Amino acid sequence: MAPVRIAMLGCGFIGEFHALGLRYVREAQLVAACDADAARREAYAARFGCRPIASLDELCADPEVDLVVVSLPNHLHRDAVVALAAAGKGVACTKPLGRNAVEAGEMLRAVTEAGVFNAYLENVIFNPDLLRMRDMVKAGAIGRLTTVRAREGHSGPHAAHFWNAELAGGGALLDMASHGAEYARFLFGKDAEVAEVFAWGATLVHGERTTGEDNAMMVMRLADGRAATIDVSWSSKGGLEGRFEAYGDAGRLITDISVGSLKAFVERPAGYVVEKADAETGWVFPVPDEVRVHGHDLMMADVVGAFADGRAPQETFADGFAVNAVLDAAYRSMRSGHWEPVERVPAFEVVGR
Ligand SMILES: NC(=O)c1ccc[n+]([C@@H]2O[C@H](COP(=O)([O-])OP(=O)(O)OC[C@H]3O[C@@H](n4cnc5c(N)ncnc54)[C@H](O)[C@@H]3O)[C@@H](O)[C@H]2O)c1
Repeated sequence: MAPVRIAMLGCGFIGEFHALGLRYVREAQLVAACDADAARREAYAARFGCRPIASLDELCADPEVDLVVVSLPNHLHRDAVVALAAAGKGVACTKPLGRNAVEAGEMLRAVTEAGVFNAYLENVIFNPDLLRMRDMVKAGAIGRLTTVRAREGHSGPHAAHFWNAELAGGGALLDMASHGAEYARFLFGKDAEVAEVFAWGATLVHGERTTGEDNAMMVMRLADGRAATIDVSWSSKGGLEGRFEAYGDAGRLITDISVGSLKAFVERPAGYVVEKADAETGWVFPVPDEVRVHGHDLMMADVVGAFADGRAPQETFADGFAVNAVLDAAYRSMRSGHWEPVERVPAFEVVGR
């Protein structure tokens, strides 16, 4: 089988996780690294054994790239995807797909009209516990699924673009509840219509750094009356949190994917502990393989395998659009103080009817 020749666009935090996720994917060949920062792309290319590429234009024109993994800040996703789709490249884009559903809809239209492969890189649902939860729900282990919960948090993002809420398109809700929203769709089933959303958000801690919400909660209500609650934080100390729960009329499923079995009490720092650990000494909880825990390897196996087989991956731009539509409704609800309906169809489809 011919390898899938992959370029990384954006060699920062998530670009590194994405490359590590590709390590064990048989068909994947990381051939190029593109980043506006010359030092970053050179270092990344040297580390992962691929060619550095300086610009998006060069990447679009490169005949030896089949699939581009978009790992850029939120405000650059749309234009990059539109250019890559026009150049006939397959695209896989990190979350959130767009800053809002209008952008996500434009991206969905671009890949649809160009007829190119598209994947939405929602990694959390490829965590092994969550995959098992989905299988158990499907097998009827907890009866009829009634409600799901997700809690994600950390003490605040690592890069300036996240803190500029106008540029990023939102704060903690957009950044983190994008995971929880897709987790809820993943468990309830994508054909379960999310009818409306109620949300609260506030800047409780980081008012000097951002105008965006640093804490938020939302309820997603399905058309059939069932619901998901998602709450997120950028002011939660002590390392990345990721707790996921599912309740049915015959049982419950609960996992905390942010802690493994390793518990350590250390008086001397020994370097990296875990994402956004906040402390290097005292009781610490190192996670030995964050790439697997965060689902990046199984996600990349699905994405690259799908590209190689000529099929759609589990998560496509249509899913990214659906998540953006839920989050748009949440932001409307934060402003109005009321339940807000979810737009289910991209604007271009409405216009095109
Ligand atoms: N799936 C997850 O759990 C997860 C985690 C973190 C970030 N993300 C997403 O990944 C995206 C990037 O976040 P990050 O944390 O990697 O940010 P980052 O700042 O660490 O990395 C972004 C990279 O993009 C490069 N870049 C900026 N402008 C560019 C341009 N015009 N052309 C080429 N390169 C450019 C920067 O030099 C940098 O190397 C965001 O959309 C974020 O939501 C997802």
